[in-house]
Amino acid sequence: MTIDVLLIGSGGREHALAWKLRQSPMLGRLYAAPGNPGIAAEAELVTLDPADHAAVVAFCREAAIGLVVVGPEVPLVAGLADALSAAGIPVFGPSEAAARLEGSKGFTKDLCTLKSIPTARYGRFTDAESAKDHVRREGAPIVVKADGLAAGKGVTVAATIDEALAAIDDCFAGEAGAEVVLEECMIGPEASLFCICDGEDALLFGTAEDHKRAFDGDEGPNTGGMGAYSPSFLMTPELTERVLREIVRPTLAGMREQGAPFRGVLYAGLMLTSEGPKLIEYNVRFGDPECQVLMMRLESDLLPVLLKAATGSVAGIELDWSPEPAVTVVMAAKGYPGAYAKGTAIRHLPETGPGETIFHAGTALDGAGLVANGGRVLNVTARAPDVAEAVRRAYALVDGVDWPDGFCRRDIAHRAVAPTV
Ligand code: AMP
Ligand code: GLY
Repeated sequence: MTIDVLLIGSGGREHALAWKLRQSPMLGRLYAAPGNPGIAAEAELVTLDPADHAAVVAFCREAAIGLVVVGPEVPLVAGLADALSAAGIPVFGPSEAAARLEGSKGFTKDLCTLKSIPTARYGRFTDAESAKDHVRREGAPIVVKADGLAAGKGVTVAATIDEALAAIDDCFAGEAGAEVVLEECMIGPEASLFCICDGEDALLFGTAEDHKRAFDGDEGPNTGGMGAYSPSFLMTPELTERVLREIVRPTLAGMREQGAPFRGVLYAGLMLTSEGPKLIEYNVRFGDPECQVLMMRLESDLLPVLLKAATGSVAGIELDWSPEPAVTVVMAAKGYPGAYAKGTAIRHLPETGPGETIFHAGTALDGAGLVANGGRVLNVTARAPDVAEAVRRAYALVDGVDWPDGFCRRDIAHRAVAPTV
């Protein structure tokens, strides 16, 4: 028996999910909304606005969809999974109440307090003056975060008190009901850990590290991620088990106790401090571009895993992973994460060999061919027996892309190739 799947989203993460789902013997028809030209090679694209829950439900009924997979956080925080569940349609992705783990930093910090989960000390503030008083008392460095979803732009690691005060003003500028979270500044390398959760149990789904800054040497502004590799060489089996025990499982228990069991991908951003691993933040979906490297390494069939998390239990599932590491290099439009041109021509994409894929993140088709249609545009991904070789293959493909208006970092995975920290 096969099932028909609807995938929500249009980025490189969703292209990787579509590419992986397409390999499932359990898959019937695969639809994607809204998708992109890369996803179109794997799925039938449907014109649906994910914010229009009634329209998504109506499509699922008409097409007899057996599972909806929601890629990005915005529809989850807006309650798309609730609307589908209420209509009896299986959905992989958390409810609105459970998506608060990403949608509200204050909510997550309070849950950490309640469950004694290691994280930075913090305070929550709903007016600028008391936040500023706190900064003056605590001093710098200090971290200022807008409470809600901010597409990776809501965090300032302030080196000085003045910088923190300015960030607080930014958070409150013109916004009614705004809240900021002020945090102690933690120090250490960062790594990400992914789990697929069914409300009760967490199935470890690998580790990764990404590169958030725009330019080589971790310089320049923060971005959504300029590249990633998996696994993280920092996350030893012992450390991984400690994170599951001290951070992930208490979180799932806390969410159950609050009547908001968490189903979906729990993505823990971790700081590996001298006192042990601490939670920086949660996301309630796969990382983008971390998903691309996880999918390159997953050898098991993804579809039954997502279906079990959505409708039953992940207990007892054993996943097969390739022992080979994977690397992805993000090619972005010149100017990203600031202003950039849209519609520039991508004149040529190279052929890929085994263990290589170019995922489309922000592309579109116009009459003349493929064009860039976003900030992050292509995710050039390779898997190989060692990281250095995966890096070499990924950059060989990058060099075969003819897109004069794009750029990428040249040092993705440098931490894993020549560890210096
Ligand atoms: P986020 O957008 O929440 O992923 O945060 C962006 C980056 O800010 C993280 O990857 C960390 O490098 C940094 N960051 C966030 N919170 C802290 C903290 N409490 N201490 C130090 N760095 C932090
Ligand atoms: N690559 C970071 C994120 O997906 O949030």
